[in-house]
Amino acid sequence: MSRFIDKLTFARANSPMEEPEDIARNGLLIHHHRHGRDGTHSPTLGQLFKRVGDAAASADADGVDLELGPASSAASSRPLSFLLTFTDLVYSVKNTSRRPFRCARTDPVAAGAGADGRTKTLLDGVSGEAREGEILAVLGASGSGKSTLIDALASRIARESLQGSVRLNGEAVDRKLMKSISAYVMQDDLLYPMLTVEETLMFSAEFRLPRTLSKSKKKARVQQLIDQLGLRRAAGTIIGDEGHRGVSGGERRRVSIGIDIIHDPIILFLDEPTSGLDSTSAFMVVKVLQRIAQSGSIVVMSVHQPSSRLIGLLDRMIFLSRGQTVYSGRPDGLPLFFSEFGHPIPENENRTEFALDLIRELEASPTGTKPLVDFNRSWQTVKLSRHNALPPKSPTTLKDAISASISRGKLVSGATDGSGGPAGSVPTFANPFWIETAVLSRRAATNSRRLPELFGMRLGAVLVTGFILATIFWRLDNSPKGVQERLGFFAIGMSTMFYTCADALPVFLQERYIFMRETAYNAYRRSSYVLSNTIIGFPPLVFLSISFAATTFFAVGLAGGAQGFFFFFLIVLASFWAGSGFVTFLSGVVSHVMLGYTVVVAILAYFLLFSGFFINRDRIPDYWLWFHYLSLVKYPYEAVMMNEFGDESKCFVRGTQMFENTPLGALPEALKLSVLKAMSGSLGVSLTSTTCVTTGPDVLKQQGITQLSKWDCLMVTVAWGFFFRVLFYFSLLLGSKGKRR
Ligand SMILES: Nc1ncnc2c1ncn2[C@@H]1O[C@H](COP(=O)(O)OP(=O)(O)OP(=O)(O)O)[C@@H](O)[C@H]1O
Ligand SMILES: [Mg+2]
Repeated sequence: MSRFIDKLTFARANSPMEEPEDIARNGLLIHHHRHGRDGTHSPTLGQLFKRVGDAAASADADGVDLELGPASSAASSRPLSFLLTFTDLVYSVKNTSRRPFRCARTDPVAAGAGADGRTKTLLDGVSGEAREGEILAVLGASGSGKSTLIDALASRIARESLQGSVRLNGEAVDRKLMKSISAYVMQDDLLYPMLTVEETLMFSAEFRLPRTLSKSKKKARVQQLIDQLGLRRAAGTIIGDEGHRGVSGGERRRVSIGIDIIHDPIILFLDEPTSGLDSTSAFMVVKVLQRIAQSGSIVVMSVHQPSSRLIGLLDRMIFLSRGQTVYSGRPDGLPLFFSEFGHPIPENENRTEFALDLIRELEASPTGTKPLVDFNRSWQTVKLSRHNALPPKSPTTLKDAISASISRGKLVSGATDGSGGPAGSVPTFANPFWIETAVLSRRAATNSRRLPELFGMRLGAVLVTGFILATIFWRLDNSPKGVQERLGFFAIGMSTMFYTCADALPVFLQERYIFMRETAYNAYRRSSYVLSNTIIGFPPLVFLSISFAATTFFAVGLAGGAQGFFFFFLIVLASFWAGSGFVTFLSGVVSHVMLGYTVVVAILAYFLLFSGFFINRDRIPDYWLWFHYLSLVKYPYEAVMMNEFGDESKCFVRGTQMFENTPLGALPEALKLSVLKAMSGSLGVSLTSTTCVTTGPDVLKQQGITQLSKWDCLMVTVAWGFFFRVLFYFSLLLGSKGKRR
């Protein structure tokens, strides 16, 4: 693409002429002579980019010209090139399917229940069209199917379950192409709270604009977008969240829209972009959308209760009621439509409010909205016959239209593949894997650097636990009691890592939604997300491990000196690594914080139970043995045990100490010594008060820690960490298609 743009700039120097049919947008004015048509099959984006690349190569001869200048609207002077039509869309779901998180509204009258009451028809024969340069608004009461219709148009409903057709310039669009040429702005704003508006847009530019576009051009695009969205005054402000003051709701909405339109999509879908905004902010948002539409895009959005000023910006409307169309056409057609239906709109009344109220009344009446639906159908037929004289609706084939649109500077995404990639493939991602990882890591690092309290909380938890453990297990001695206490310290200490990792669950979950939104439109690969997540998550773990090891190792008086400390630190780090991997993986599978906590706490308790501390391996029933080997706590626990008790020269039970914890322990010392003497006589070995009865390795044997070496245990723990991250990757791959069934 940059090759293309460079060429264009060059061409401009040669032929700075303008033509009337040209379109200005984003300050980038490109004049292009359309190519001849060939073939009518739906082309791949790769082919299209290639064509544009070719066009650029012969720019001089062809008269392609680029001019940098202020954006102006000239859409009306150019022949229409995109037309999105949808006919008879029908979408039903089985009522038995549970989707508690998708939509909480299950009002039985809100959408048409199927005859048997088991299937629910969310869309029932919806037809209409959206044109380039125009805004199509979907209106209706809550639960009427607005979001569903937008999902259907944006190919976010599985093909098999959606009946009817969605066509762009008369051609069916496959999901991949739709993904590349369109953007979908969701109802909620999911943004990194600690990035500024400008940074947020810049990161989005780095994800979605091709690598070949220079940094300064990306910056220019961001600046342009900031102006286009009216965000100049807020550019340096952080987005903010509940705990931090940030930009206003309307500004946040516009940032959300901005990150999705950074690559200048041909079709823009928005689910209620104005909800929750006051009428001025809503008007500004729609004004921006109008400008985007006029720059050569199709805008489809759903809207709740638009103000009359806002209606002035809409070009086309579809009113839905229980999944059926009750009106479809221009806003100024409403008065005639309703007066012919027998309910003329009183003067000075907000037309859409009147319409929505009337629909609500009809819904409550015994006949329902059927008369209106039928009336609309006949109205549409009349309208069609009236307009029959018009020239064919889609003057250009899809392939030509997209090519022309790209050459005007639209759709900057994925253009890297334009020359190299195999002709049949759609260039799916704008950047290679490593760049994505670097940008993602940079973004996550910036965000977490500005949220030091998150790390502070984890560090606090680790330090407090370390402090409590250090004081309770202060300077343990090498007596039988000391051995018991050491075991207790290790068991509780090694599960601390896993429990403190659970703190990160809500943060991960919040990020997951951002991730889902971004990957829904191929901003980056899932694998690069997993890698950057791992890279950014690691340094804090090192700090946490050092703090925990330093607070406890010397205070408890663990064995091994500097080497022992170093191993202790490594195994603590490995546990943090495995634990955070485990929690990350869980955040990819469970979608609710409370559910996540419950699962983490329960599983960690089982891990501890089966670690070998409460019950030795040889005492665990055979049918539970597998869980012992799965237990994440087992490996670090055994590793620190071996670190502590590996030394043969260390003695933990001497002479009469062996009577501790037995009934003989209560006897006076002299009596114990004579019992010892009697025992040596009958056993034939000499036992005195200083004879070592149990060395370190004996303790290990008693605990059944015999199978692995301490380094093996370290390796296994590290491997668990990797394993969970791979599982995390698969959970993302399978779990976040962003699509309805
Ligand atoms: N999986 C499902 N199973 C059953 N009903 C569903 C399912 N998904 C959506 N619905 C129902 O479909 C209807 C249309 O939902 P949709 O989200 O499209 O409404 P909407 O018009 O966007 O509403 P709002 O304005 O409140 O966003 C609702 O009544 C909803 O309860
Ligand atoms: Mg909705």
